[in-house]
Amino acid sequence: MKIAIGNDHSAVELKNIIAEHLKEKGYEVLNLGTDSTESCDYPVYGEKVGRAVASGEADLGIAICGTGVGISLAANKVKGIRACVCSEPYTAKLSRMHNNSNVLAFGARVVGSELAKMIVDQWLDAEFEGGRHQRRVDMIMEIERKE
Ligand code: RB5
Repeated sequence: MKIAIGNDHSAVELKNIIAEHLKEKGYEVLNLGTDSTESCDYPVYGEKVGRAVASGEADLGIAICGTGVGISLAANKVKGIRACVCSEPYTAKLSRMHNNSNVLAFGARVVGSELAKMIVDQWLDAEFEGGRHQRRVDMIMEIERKE
């Protein structure tokens, strides 16, 4: 499985830690983030992650900025993307099981690296439950289709 990972300047170190963690777990990693700590604009990287997932170039995406908010908002502007900011593992897991999230976002200024790994692991290990949740996700995607 291929994971696209994107980040702004605030999250270079955490991106590298998470990318290594993913590789250790056997995932292929597509680095779409900046590798420089010079100030840059998070929408660029949110869009890159969103497009990689929406096009099928990657199976899932991880987006990291200072809070996770800006980069998730940008990723969510790409059609087909359901990006969720998760600062703890429970929400991350449920965002897969119930919301079929396809991009996980979190903040390098919010979570430490060990918590970030737990968030990523719970998210990747969870599976979408379908059923009534499929209907609700379809309703979300219908809002997007009507725009
Ligand atoms: C950059 O300073 C910061 O605004 C950005 O990383 C992110 O937190 C935005 O949502």
